[in-house]
Amino acid sequence: MLHKLIRRKPEKKNQTIAERISHSTKEPIPSHIAIIMDGNGRWAKKRLLPRVAGHHEGMKTVRKITKLANKLGVQALTVYAFSTENWKRPKLEVDFIMRLPEEFLGTYLPELIEENVRVVMMGENNTLPLHTQEAVKKAIETTKENTGLVLNFALNYGSRAEIAQAVQNIVHQVQQGTLTYSDVNEELISQHLMTCDLPEPDLLIRTSGEVRLSNFMLWQLAYTEFWFTDTLWPDFDENCLLDAIESYQKRNRRYGGLKGDETH
Ligand code: FPP
Repeated sequence: MLHKLIRRKPEKKNQTIAERISHSTKEPIPSHIAIIMDGNGRWAKKRLLPRVAGHHEGMKTVRKITKLANKLGVQALTVYAFSTENWKRPKLEVDFIMRLPEEFLGTYLPELIEENVRVVMMGENNTLPLHTQEAVKKAIETTKENTGLVLNFALNYGSRAEIAQAVQNIVHQVQQGTLTYSDVNEELISQHLMTCDLPEPDLLIRTSGEVRLSNFMLWQLAYTEFWFTDTLWPDFDENCLLDAIESYQKRNRRYGGLKGDETH
């Protein structure tokens, strides 16, 4: 048994990413992957760099992971880039993060277009700096006909606020008489969330060893498979994504029920 364990690891390690990709594509690919990109600050600190250097490196990881997810046929990739709570950080750091969508899209938009990626955003758009709004708006506009991966930036996003907004909209429609009390069900609430056009996430990844949701997609993650890794986001690479997907492919998803062969 121990012999088997020792032999398997090096085999997997020696596989190229291309070999791993062809293996992964044989099995179910998660239609929507959501990622809490954590550990940028610690990555920078370990290198005696300012925290923002970690965010900048993290931006490059977004590109790498978007490319691979698209290649694998993932339909949607949601990345948590800035939460409604992140405004509490020092102004310098906030200002830096708010420049990243511009830099990311300024650099990689041609590549995203070439790769048929559609950019969308969820979060409170109106309170973002104008330059951030404009960069995101341009990318959404330019890629709106693309049919490949949907790259969803969670920017100034908070899940509780999203749910509260959905409830307000529904109550308003009930008051107006366009909906009745008995129309309110799970499906209706899902339709009023910012993710109404996306499938629910099949896989949630959080990097850096933290094991919490941090107000991220609380409704949408009800039946999602979770993958936590100690790897810091700037170090998260293609092999890490393939590890997460391969783990997902081995999961037994029962949605609260039983598998056919477990019923007796
Ligand atoms: C959490 O790490 C990370 C963030 C709050 C920002 C995430 C942003 C990026 C990865 C770049 C986004 C890219 C684009 C294109 C918008 P942390 O700072 O909390 O790390 P720490 O826990 O180690 O301090």
